Amino acid sequence: MQKILVTGGLGYIGSHTVVGLIEAGFDVVILDNLSNADKTTLDRIAQITHHTPIFFEGDIRDTELLSKICLKHPDIKAVIHFAGLKAVGESVAHPLKYYDNNVVGSIRLIEAMQKHHIKNIIFSSSATVYAPQKEAALREDDSKTPSNPYGQTKWMIENILKDQYGSDPTWRISVLRYFNPVGAHGSGLIGENPKGIPNNLFPYIAQTASGIRQKLNVFGGDYPTADGTAMRDYIHIDDLVKGHIAALKYSSDHKGYHAFNLGTGKGTSVLEAIKVFEKTNEVKIPYEVTARREGDIATCFANADLAYKVLGWKATKNLEDMCRDHWRWQQHLNQCRSH
Ligand code: NAD
Ligand code: WQD
Repeated sequence: MQKILVTGGLGYIGSHTVVGLIEAGFDVVILDNLSNADKTTLDRIAQITHHTPIFFEGDIRDTELLSKICLKHPDIKAVIHFAGLKAVGESVAHPLKYYDNNVVGSIRLIEAMQKHHIKNIIFSSSATVYAPQKEAALREDDSKTPSNPYGQTKWMIENILKDQYGSDPTWRISVLRYFNPVGAHGSGLIGENPKGIPNNLFPYIAQTASGIRQKLNVFGGDYPTADGTAMRDYIHIDDLVKGHIAALKYSSDHKGYHAFNLGTGKGTSVLEAIKVFEKTNEVKIPYEVTARREGDIATCFANADLAYKVLGWKATKNLEDMCRDHWRWQQHLNQCRSH
């Protein structure tokens, strides 16, 4: 049984990946400082998988703790590195916090990995590293110009990893650039639970359908798209998890540095997302088209051919699946709130 260290393993994508890893027969060690997660997620993971993964509460910048984990678990074969801060607006207001947590944290982690001979990492990057784009699907080699400090941290870490590989070609490095992950585990027991007012579309839609928010503001109705609203490549969290497992399997027999887009390759407009959410879940989402949100672009979707060609991975779930599973999770949260 291969042992994998998952940093940020109690967060949204991390917790789903931990479930996927356990179900695929991997042994998991989690490191999370709980800055954006709740420890009860560990119990939820155990409820789903009938197995409680080993958990260390702590920070990826804590060199001593990293050493302790590596010495206690010398059979760790790879790291899936989710730990990071991810709010674009907050990164503009507090850039140093982001550079410290994400970039310095990743450096500390890579140092510990090098020291303990764990030279296999899968890193969570983002579509946000790409330059604002033409109306075509983004390819891995398209130009990169992150437009905010959060995106900069992701692009810096990608480059640090590339240089690390340059200095020691026995490393196995997979950079996965996620597009817009949405949805939740089919059990309805784990999912994304943003603190405060959600920034992202799906949590906002789900809270509006629940009556927690009065109406959804649709940011911009004058984009050069079919219905005037902006288009994104929403990808079901289950597909994203499968992408990590495919990358892990690939890296077990391939050294090298690779970057892959993980998206469906299909753009969905804000109005389409609202309509499909309403229809799939038989709910009403009051909305109003308002001004564009600063920094937004008209379209952003992936060309995910490389992940298919190299990893044999492609997304299989559709927008209905995403809406249904997101709603099941929101209903679970609503129930917890009412008790
Ligand atoms: P999340 O906030 O739910 O999960 C991140 C986890 O990392 C949290 O549990 C948090 O407590 C932990 N963490 C943060 N800093 C840490 C540190 N210094 N030490 C230890 N633990 C730390 O976010 P998510 O949506 O699950 O995202 C996971 C990763 O994927 C992040 O790196 C994010 O930037 C990246 N990503 C997310 C999206 C998205 O839309 N959700 C898109 C592209 C990339
Ligand atoms: C999607 C669309 C909005 C909220 C962000 C980060 C990115 C990545 C994923 C981590 C846009 C519109 C939204 C609302 C709306 N995260 N919208 N009303 O902006 O594509 O990407 O999350 O790496 O870095 O920037 O996702 O979900 O915020 O927005 O109309 O209340 O929905 O304008 O067109 P985005 P999003």
